Parts: sequence; structure tokens; C-alpha cells
Amino acid sequence: MKIAILGYGTVGKGVVKILEERFPHFEIVKIVVHSEKDCLDERFTTNFYEIFDYDVDVLMEMIIGDSPTYEYIRYALSQCIHVITSNKTTVACHLEEYMKLAKENHCQFRYEASVAGGIPWIQGLIKAKRIDKIERIEGILNGTTNYILDHMLKEDRDYTEILKDAQRLGYAESNPSADVDGIDALRKICISSSLGYNIRVNTDEVDCFGISTVKLNDLKKFKNEGLLIKLMGYSHFENNKFYACVEPVLVSSISKYAAVDENNNAVSLYGNTIGELMFIGQGAGQAPTANAMIQDLLDINDRRYDGECILVDSVIDRGDTLNNYVFCMNEDQSMIFEEKIDFVEKVDERYYITLKPSTVEEKNKWIKELRNANCEFFYARRRVL
Ligand code: HSE
Repeated sequence: MKIAILGYGTVGKGVVKILEERFPHFEIVKIVVHSEKDCLDERFTTNFYEIFDYDVDVLMEMIIGDSPTYEYIRYALSQCIHVITSNKTTVACHLEEYMKLAKENHCQFRYEASVAGGIPWIQGLIKAKRIDKIERIEGILNGTTNYILDHMLKEDRDYTEILKDAQRLGYAESNPSADVDGIDALRKICISSSLGYNIRVNTDEVDCFGISTVKLNDLKKFKNEGLLIKLMGYSHFENNKFYACVEPVLVSSISKYAAVDENNNAVSLYGNTIGELMFIGQGAGQAPTANAMIQDLLDINDRRYDGECILVDSVIDRGDTLNNYVFCMNEDQSMIFEEKIDFVEKVDERYYITLKPSTVEEKNKWIKELRNANCEFFYARRRVL
């Protein structure tokens, strides 16, 4: 098979390395990079459209963002070239269109590496769906934030220092705000939900809150209470009603999610016969993500086909389930929570406001009010074990 590589950053380099070392019979004919200075040998080009002069079978796409990716993927599929991608941004926006285009052109669009790094999560979901109706998906879907929250406590160091380590280790996005603000995990819960429930998911309709305002002392305070903060994605679908969010979650230090450390991800699906099926492994980094890209390549080579992806519309419903939230901030804004306050603690000039069971809509209203008051804060939902 003839392969074109699009993007020679962390993941692109990993893919080329594994292919050259382990699969020399796959011929890398072109490597498309952004600038001339990145061209290392005659295989390199800055002109994407040059790959179509080389009878390429598969495009392995590992660039950032949706532009020009969208145009490139569409063009490759329209030319009957299989496409494999790790690009969450473009898959979250156009999964249905890419799958349809691939079917029309008798080729494959595969995206295992776009969610949960090296974990065979997309394959797991596809297999589970063959038998089960998927009811719920939840998990730690971002390796960078998991690494940061874990290492702040392990090393007794602040957020900004550990973030630099996560960047150096190749876990973080080029703009790490996508990681720490929850956007990366949001894209992954959207892709997983579309695939798991066969519904169209609009990324704008998913509630999202990140971890950039979590302090080391917050982590220590909760740890003393037997709790860890994890950034988690969650979604459920029932009777055409869909809900999804990404938010900081307080998990018991004896829960299975507490054991997920370093850059690992852990993601569960809940099916009506299989029950909970949990997948754990490295969710970020060069080798695990490259591994997932190559798994897709091997599946194409073996002519394994995952079938269609037909999506329908659903209704967003935040429901009336009651959750236990804690809001943390430097100033006393307890008045906005009114009669919903359970108790307030003040520890080292930091306010921890524990609320009585509250709905998602109530929580969203408080977030809006605190933002309007220019208050720096974060909240976390307590997860039942
Ligand atoms: N920045 C992402 C993460 C990379 O930390 O999970 C893998 O998608």
C-alpha cells in the first residue's frame, strides 16, 4: 500500500517511525508539511495536492484544526483514497459527512486515534453497538489534564509548571487551552456520543468547564477528604433525549477512576446486555496515538470495514437529575446560591461552597452569574462511587 502522511508533528513522526521500523512494506510516498524548512528529504512536500500524482491508497492525516483539513479530507475521499485521522476537531464537526463521502467513493474513513489515544475505544464502541443499545458513556478523555492533576499532587508543584512538562512530553495540544478548558475532551465526548447513540451532536450544545482555575491547595484539601479531582466527559441518551458535559468531577480515592494516573484515559460505555465496559490506557502521546493510527491502517489493509454511520437528530435535555456540586473561589460569592447552600468552608483564604442537590440548569445559572461578576472560580460535581 502507498501512504501519504499529512502533518509531521508529534503524532506524524511517531507514525513514520513505527511504519519504517515495523512495516517497511507500507511505502510512505509523500509527507506533507506546512513549511519548506520542515522538508527533510525528497518525500517531503508543502503541496498537499502533489500526493495525487503518486497513486496513493491511504492518507494518514495528523494536522491541527478543521481548516484546511476539511477540504483535504473531502478531496482525498472524493478521489477514492482511504483516510485515517487523529484530528478530533474535524471528526467532531464532520463525522457523518466524511463517512457518507467514504461510502459513496468505496473507501474508508477511520478515526480511532481521535479519541482516547492508544485505547481501541472506537473499535470497542462499534463492537458493543453490534449487540447493545448504548445508554451512557463517561470517562477521563484528556491525557494532559489527567497528567496535570495527578502530578500537581505527586510533585507538590503548581499547575503552570506541570503543564509545561505535559507539553514537553507531547501530551498537550499546540494550544493547551484546548486541553485545560475541556474543549479537547468535549470533542471526544461528542465523537463518542455520535457513534455510540447514532445521533448528530452539536459541540456548542455540550456544557463544558475546565481545570485551569484549580489550585494545588484545592487538590490537597479534597485529597485530605479522600477525594480526587478528575476532568471527565459524560453523556447519556434515552427516548431521543441527549445530554453531554465535560466538567471537573470529585471521585473517591478508592474509585476506579482515582487509579487512572499519568497521561492515561479511562472510558466506559454502558450497554443493555454488556453492562459497563471500561477501557484504560495511554490517552495522549506520540507512540500510543501513532499506534491507534496504524491499527486503522492494518484494518484497511486487511479489508476490515466498520460499516456505515447513519446519524439522526435528537433533543438536548439537561433533565432534572439532582447532583452534588462544590464551587471554589477566592471571594465570598455565597449570596448567589441563596437557599441552595449546604455549607461554606473557608480554608487559607479560599471559599468552598457545598450546595444541596441541584440541577444542571441551576449549576449553569450560577456559572453565568459568577462569570458576570468576574469571579475566578471552578466547580466540581461529586461522583457517586
Ligand atoms: N491533548 C490530547 C490529550 C492529546 O491530552 O488527551 C490526545 O488526544
